[in-house]
Parts: sequence; C-alpha cells; structure tokens
Amino acid sequence: MLKGKKILLGITGSIAAYKAILLIRGLIKEGADVKVVMTPSAKDFVSPLTVSTLSKNEVLIDIFKEDSWANHVMLGRWADIMLIAPASCNTLSKMANGLCDNLLLSVYLSATCPVMIAPAMDEDMWLHPATKKNIAILAGYGNILLPVENGELASGLTGQGRMAEPETIICYINNYLKNSGDLKGKHALVTAGPTYEHLDPVRFIGNHSSGKMGVAIAHELFNRGASVTLVLGPTALPFNFNGLNVLRVNSAAEMYAACTKIFSEANIAVMSAAVADYTPVNVAEEKIKKKDENWLLQLTKTKDILKSLGEKKRKDQILVGFALETNNEEVNARQKMQQKNADIIVLNSLRDEEAGFGKDTNKITVFFKNGEERKFDAKSKDLVAKDIVDCITQYHA
Ligand code: CTP
Repeated sequence: MLKGKKILLGITGSIAAYKAILLIRGLIKEGADVKVVMTPSAKDFVSPLTVSTLSKNEVLIDIFKEDSWANHVMLGRWADIMLIAPASCNTLSKMANGLCDNLLLSVYLSATCPVMIAPAMDEDMWLHPATKKNIAILAGYGNILLPVENGELASGLTGQGRMAEPETIICYINNYLKNSGDLKGKHALVTAGPTYEHLDPVRFIGNHSSGKMGVAIAHELFNRGASVTLVLGPTALPFNFNGLNVLRVNSAAEMYAACTKIFSEANIAVMSAAVADYTPVNVAEEKIKKKDENWLLQLTKTKDILKSLGEKKRKDQILVGFALETNNEEVNARQKMQQKNADIIVLNSLRDEEAGFGKDTNKITVFFKNGEERKFDAKSKDLVAKDIVDCITQYHA
C-alpha cells in the first residue's frame, strides 16, 4: 500500500504516455499523493487536463508561467519518490548528460529523493550503444532503472523497449519502499498540538500550538517505514493523516492516558505536543457566571507525560522531547533532558523569527544525552522533521 506516500510522476513525450494515466489511477487507488510534471512534448501524447483531473493536482509543465516560477527544488524535496514514466530516449539522454532545458529535467537534477525510471522506446533505439551508455550512466548515479518489457511496439514491430505495465511499476515502488525504510518494523509514538483544559462547558485554557511540527514528524517516521501512532490535541488544521494511526485527545490528562497505554510497544517516542502544565482544580458543569471584580482561579499541575515516560523508559527505547524557551535556552534544554530522562531534546527558541507556533518554518538545535549538540538552519517544518528523524536514527547513547 502506498498510503501517504508522495509520488512525483514525470511524463515525457512517448506513445507510452497513455499508460501514465493508468499509472496515476493505480497510484491514487493505493493511497499515494501524486503530483505530475510533464515535458512540453508530453502534451502531444496526453492531455494535461486528464492528468490534473486524475492526479487531483495542477500539472506542472513550464519553468516560468507569466510572472511566477515553478519551484523545482521544493518539488524534488516534497516527493518520497520521483518516477519518470515513460522516460523517452531523448529525456534519458538529457538526464545522463545533466541537461536542464525543461521543468522535468530541473526537478530531476535537484531531486533529493530516490528516482525511478521506466524507459519506453522502440527496440532499435533501446539497443543502440548510446542508449545503453546513458542507461549505465543513470544507474551509476544511483537512479533505479526499471526493466523494459518485450512485446508489441508503437512501430508495429515486436521486441524489447515497451514501458513496464502500470501494475508492474506499482509493484516495484511497493517493494522498494518495503525494503528501503530505515525504520521498518519500528513503532513510533508521537504527540502533537495543544491541550485544552476545560473550566466549564464553554471555556478552556489552551495555547497556540498548531500541531504542524508533530504531524510532520509523524509523516516522516511513517515514510521511513515505522508504524506510527499520533496522539493529537485539539487543532482545527485540515491535516492529511494518510498512513497514520491517529488518536484525538483534548486534555493533558487524556494525552497522558493515551501515551502511557501505548508507550511500552513503542521503539521511538517523540513528545512534540505543547501540553498544558496546569489544569483547573474544578471544572464547572454549567457555564460560570461573572460575579466579583477579580476571579482567582485555582489550578493544579498536570502530569508531565515526557517525564513519566522517561521514568518507564527501557534501554531499547528512544525518547525525544521538545523544549520551547525564551531565555537561557541551552541550559534549560539540557536540564529538561536530564530531569525528564530523555535521550534527545529538540530546542526551539521563541527568539527566532522563523520558529514558533503556527509558523511553516522552524529553527532547531538538537541536544543528545551523550553531550553532542547539532544546530540546524531555519527550514520548512517538513525538512526539520527529516533532520529530527535523522538525529533519531543516528542516535547512539
Ligand atoms: N511535556 C509533557 N507533559 C507536560 C508538559 C510538557 O510531556 N505536562 C513535554 C513537552 O511535550 C515537551 C517537553 O515536555 O516535549 C518540554 O515542554 P516545555 O513546555 O518546554 O517544558 P515544561 O516541562 O512544561 O517546563 P516549563 O514550561 O517550565 O519550561
């Protein structure tokens, strides 16, 4: 299943482009998110309207469109896999030689994800030494070359060079993902979002956390092969939860209960939620009416989820906490790691303009229990999630 996987499909000018339509349908049916980049000549073989309708995303063809510019770097970084199907002889040659005269080629050259290529051409072209050389160069660059099939060709001849059938390509993707995830077989628990502590049926004490960072971490862990349980507080953002097991909670007490139940089965736990530290002593059943000039509200401490998991932590589990600080950041972050027995603490400082609640970017410093420290530049939360998961997979106590 490709639930939640992001596939960037590149379509080039080849008769086999009609099969790309079936490929998109198959990928979507498997639960993948599909974005499509076409070369200008691919438009002669398949209509961008059909492609955008089936993929449910705008099709990208031109590097420049009126006064805007297609961000090829971000497209390559968005994808878990870039798949070029069909890859014509011409595009293969340009890819092998680093040419960059259309959007598809610039996305290919800047892609940081694995690239799969499904060639399609006539047999004589396929067997030409120049094509063989290009294929060898592309494989040498680490691209995954899918085998061509034998059968009826566009020329009317029969032979090698047919693009692999869409079902076969989907099988290759599934197999690749199944065998490539460095967190395959691991279970991860992630908390995200705020908690709401109710005062009465209409009021609560909450905070500005959006849950974006935690949800991005959950997706990254899933994309690397882990099964993920996301315990998510009350955020209204329309997240895509494809592939994640999501438990919705409201209060700190509910988040604590959900986490303590699951923790023993988790290999990795990432506590990114902004949990309320205090909750009202009494919750009124009816709406509280206003009375005196001042109102003293009595609050009591909530259970510290990270700390209580830290007390239960086994040697084979990695526990990651966050620290949101406005002053004395490093000292406070290291103290939190020690007091809560975490293995890793991710610090975001509210002093950084690029970090904080609701923002799409974040700037972090990661502290490890063994004293190591890593500072990262400001990045989108998706890319920060990749850095955090890299820190987890590379962690050695
Ligand atoms: N945390 C938690 N349960 C709580 C409070 C915090 O699990 N009741 C976790 C957060 O998810 C985060 C870490 O503890 O991973 C640090 O949270 P933070 O708010 O920075 O620190 P606090 O421990 O709440 O301390 P303070 O607010 O005094 O800085």
